[in-house]
Amino acid sequence: MASFAVVGGGLAGISVAHRLHHAGHHVVVFEKSRGQGGRLSTRRLADWQVDHGTQYFTARSAEFQAEVNRWQSLGWVQLWSVEPWMLHRETFTPSPDNQQRFVGVPTMNAMVHGLSEGLEFYSECRIDRLEKQQQKWRLWDGHGEHYGLFDAVILTAPLAQSLALLPAGAKAEASLRQATMTPTWAFGLALAEPSGIKADALFANDGIVTWACRDSCKPGRPSHYESWIVHFSPKWTANHLDASEDLLHQQVVHLLERLAGKPIRIHEYFKHRWLHARSSKQGNVIPLWDVDNGVGLAGDWTVGSRLEDAWLSAQTLAEQLLSDFAQ
Ligand code: NAI
Repeated sequence: MASFAVVGGGLAGISVAHRLHHAGHHVVVFEKSRGQGGRLSTRRLADWQVDHGTQYFTARSAEFQAEVNRWQSLGWVQLWSVEPWMLHRETFTPSPDNQQRFVGVPTMNAMVHGLSEGLEFYSECRIDRLEKQQQKWRLWDGHGEHYGLFDAVILTAPLAQSLALLPAGAKAEASLRQATMTPTWAFGLALAEPSGIKADALFANDGIVTWACRDSCKPGRPSHYESWIVHFSPKWTANHLDASEDLLHQQVVHLLERLAGKPIRIHEYFKHRWLHARSSKQGNVIPLWDVDNGVGLAGDWTVGSRLEDAWLSAQTLAEQLLSDFAQ
């Protein structure tokens, strides 16, 4: 039996931990936030909720499709039969397609919760430093506590955080330095009265917003309030990293009122800034397993920027680890 430390409790971290744990290894997951799921995140307010991170996911590979079928049969995810609209050159038009889109139920991280069953999990534990001792890894948190020793460390936090922990001279260092992740402002709101907006989801390319959707129309969501989430484009967000709530509010009201064709009344709203929302990786291959250093990497950003990429990277890394640490 080998021992593994996994830094990050998002889908990639929990998926790789799940595989290693069920193969009989000792695995500990360290997560800086309170809960699991990373960007698979749902904000729960007093009487409404909204997914403010990952909005939905698709399954393209046969391998991931099979896993999503399994998640569906366990009741962790459901198909979201949404018909998208588009905002293009100031015009809103239906933009139907045949793409299957899935959501976690009742919150986006439901499958991460399911997969984490039985795992040793430290929440609110931010790993600051890795230290090598006799060919093994000791992990240090921000309060000076240490954990380990582990045979290998698996870094699954977003790119910048993983790079900060990566040992100097690690195999992936150069390719990680070439990759970047871009930010996204999210603005969530509940309406005081129904908007009458026909579109449930909107892809936009007006340079300001990329996505808006009626979150309350997703399966398994509470329906007391009509709730919406709007994502601002990476470029606009980067240019307005310190945007005030008023500025975001103004943009969102402008968009929704154009969609509704009438004034809207908001019950409650919030803003959330995702500093590391999506990868803008440009084709450089990131090696996932560095046997010499005993460091693994997994995350959407190692492959692309979709949820499936996070899961696939975790499977690829797990295969390599299970083969190198075969009992
Ligand atoms: P997908 O196939 O539904 O969408 C991929 C992209 O294609 C969309 O972003 C959109 O620009 C376009 N598109 C798809 N269907 C369309 C339609 N019917 N009409 C007009 N445009 C359409 O989903 P996939 O490939 O699984 O990607 C997941 C989504 O999550 C993507 O939209 C991706 O950009 C987005 N994402 C957003 C992040 C954020 O921070 N806002 C972070 C990571 C991913």
